[in-house]
Amino acid sequence: MTTPAYLDNAATSFPKPPGVARAVASFLDTSAGNPGRGGHRLAVAASRAVEGARDAVAQLLGADPERTLLGPGCTFWLNTLLQGLLEPGDRVVCSQLEHNAVMRPLRWLEAQRGVIVHSVAAAHPWGVPTPAELRAAVVLAPTKLVVITHASNVTGAVLPVAAITRAVAPVPVIVDAAQSAGSVPIDFAELGVAALACSGHKGLLGPPGVGVLLLDDQLTPPPLLHGGTGSRSESELMPSLLPDALEAGTPNSPGYAGLEASCAWLEERGVAAIQAHENQLLAIAAQGLAGLPDVELIGFDPQQPHTGTLSFRVQGVDNGELALWLDRRHGIQLRPGLHCAPAAHRRLGSFPAGTLRAGFGPFNTVAHAQGLVAAVASFPKRTQAQA
Ligand SMILES: Cc1ncc(COP(=O)(O)O)c(C=O)c1O
Repeated sequence: MTTPAYLDNAATSFPKPPGVARAVASFLDTSAGNPGRGGHRLAVAASRAVEGARDAVAQLLGADPERTLLGPGCTFWLNTLLQGLLEPGDRVVCSQLEHNAVMRPLRWLEAQRGVIVHSVAAAHPWGVPTPAELRAAVVLAPTKLVVITHASNVTGAVLPVAAITRAVAPVPVIVDAAQSAGSVPIDFAELGVAALACSGHKGLLGPPGVGVLLLDDQLTPPPLLHGGTGSRSESELMPSLLPDALEAGTPNSPGYAGLEASCAWLEERGVAAIQAHENQLLAIAAQGLAGLPDVELIGFDPQQPHTGTLSFRVQGVDNGELALWLDRRHGIQLRPGLHCAPAAHRRLGSFPAGTLRAGFGPFNTVAHAQGLVAAVASFPKRTQAQA
């Protein structure tokens, strides 16, 4: 038995930093009024918690707190952007590495509104598009938006978003930073994108049910949800001022309290240091796994900047069976299959079986990376297949 390890941080981070659970509990114990609804002390305490989280995440990601929105998830904010901005006949350009949080809204808009979806076929062996390839795609026909993942949730490759944004200008870029926020240093202003959506529960290390949207000063999508905001209550229309314009309904304020605590932890550790740590574990796992004769790394390009995510498969072995065995026998938890990204797996040649995906996080250790290699090496069916 090797060291048990949670290696599914690309799905959601675990454990959370010390202080996150405490912040959630403390909010519920002491401050759980309804933020923005009323002027009594609990409502004010709740509003402070929400605004504290907004400031903390804006600071961490180099954004303007007045154009930082909090909501239920990255999926919610991507839908707000895509459904709100793409009208009948509009053309949108994306990469082949997009998650279904982008592809499903796009395919739905294609079917329902006749939106034209152009997915760029990259020459790179693992589908990472270059700025020039995206430029070529947007000059081909009038284009409303580029939507692109900052880092692949299957391979961990980090895309050159700042250079892409410059190359496709003046077409606005929406970036899906679900896999990069908190795992790769981000300066929103420097990226130059029109909007960035991310999850609060992955690299940002907060609780589930939290997502963040950053907007530049040009782009404000219409709301996906209409409802109470606690402001302008005389009107039956949504207020036009942010954040209320996009934040209808009672928010997940305990979750936001947790997010504020996780952002404080990330500030203290430094996201660059976290990326370096995860990349060290990735290198150990990649080198060890690549040294096993029947193991193939999928989409790992050491020349490319990476998150802590690594995909691989073992010849002749069912991904689900190996994942189950790793968990049962070694306590190693990772995710087999398509990772909600069928388009990416098609491009990588791993559709429909998918891959095994190890996602290293800030609390993983060298022993975890070495343990994964040793455990895969000792999988009985693998040894039989070799014999
Ligand atoms: C690249 C990418 N985009 C979007 C999402 C959706 O994030 P959430 O489920 O937090 O809304 C994920 C989650 O797996 C992801 O990996």
